[in-house]
Amino acid sequence: MKDNLAYATTSASAVSSDADDAPDLPPKEFLRDLKRGLARPQKIISPKYFYDAQGSSLFDRICDLPEYYPTRTEMAILHKHAREIALHIGPHAEIIEFGSGSMDKVRVLLDALDRPRRYVPIDISESHLLDAAQRMRLAYPALEVEPLVADYTQVLVLPPDEPPQGRRMGFFPGSTLGNFEPQDALLFMQTCAKALAGGALILGVDLVKNPDLLHAAYNDAQGVTADFNRNVLVRANRELGASFQIDQFAHSAFYNAPYQRIEMHLVSTCQQTVSVGGATFRFSEGETLHTENSYKFTLDGLHQLALRAGFTPGQNWIDSDHTFCLLWLDAPPSRSHA
Ligand code: AVI
Repeated sequence: MKDNLAYATTSASAVSSDADDAPDLPPKEFLRDLKRGLARPQKIISPKYFYDAQGSSLFDRICDLPEYYPTRTEMAILHKHAREIALHIGPHAEIIEFGSGSMDKVRVLLDALDRPRRYVPIDISESHLLDAAQRMRLAYPALEVEPLVADYTQVLVLPPDEPPQGRRMGFFPGSTLGNFEPQDALLFMQTCAKALAGGALILGVDLVKNPDLLHAAYNDAQGVTADFNRNVLVRANRELGASFQIDQFAHSAFYNAPYQRIEMHLVSTCQQTVSVGGATFRFSEGETLHTENSYKFTLDGLHQLALRAGFTPGQNWIDSDHTFCLLWLDAPPSRSHA
């Protein structure tokens, strides 16, 4: 299969404050992307459309599943090394979290840090973001919490840090980088290195491992991942008036070893047509809508990616089963300010 599931557009490196780029227009964008994706020989839709309020809470449930090891493993790594990481970061830090979700992991860092100054959670799911940010304000009264509703794959305008005090730290846990296509991962990392110039990034990524463990993590017994996958159709019906028959699409997730990625698809269980925004699309029996890639990484591959993006790789923290990795990446100061 062609390596073609685009998560971010090539504008991932763009820095823009244009209102047209604001993330409060998803129905228009969603309609455009779904119609384009359904017209392709391999039907596709970007996994970013999983994350409406319902999708975000399904994802939170995935993170608690016994089969889904990444969340608890990354948490365990964070707990074990929080003090050491906090010492690396230093006092009065500003933490910028890309795709902040429920903000559970960052709490481990914040609890270990010496007087963290500001927290900027960035997420595409507005209601989820604002609720979680409010909980953070209550839990950390001395911390400035400045949520940013944004698609950080497309727009990366960070609030100014004036006067700069502690270190500016990016935090990108959860192996979300694995949901980007390789060229988009590089673009995002390059943008990130520029935005964090003089600071650093802590990146959490899932490692290449036994395919049986991977298969189980994306095919849980309770069917939560299946509901998460099908939620993109539920969302299309609700937001775009599409006519997907949800029970005629089966969840499919498998490890594609040559590409080092889990692929998620929705398989049409019969021949059917679906209408979306005035257009009709035909599915034959067994035809799939490709909904997500989740790339797994090797340490070597990660170092190469980081170097190409302009970061200088530092220390890494890995669990004893070699399942998941937290990586420290220094972002060199920008030349114009040097
Ligand atoms: C958010 N992302 C890192 C998850 C993953 O593992 O790729 C999304 C997910 N898809 C199915 N289960 C979890």
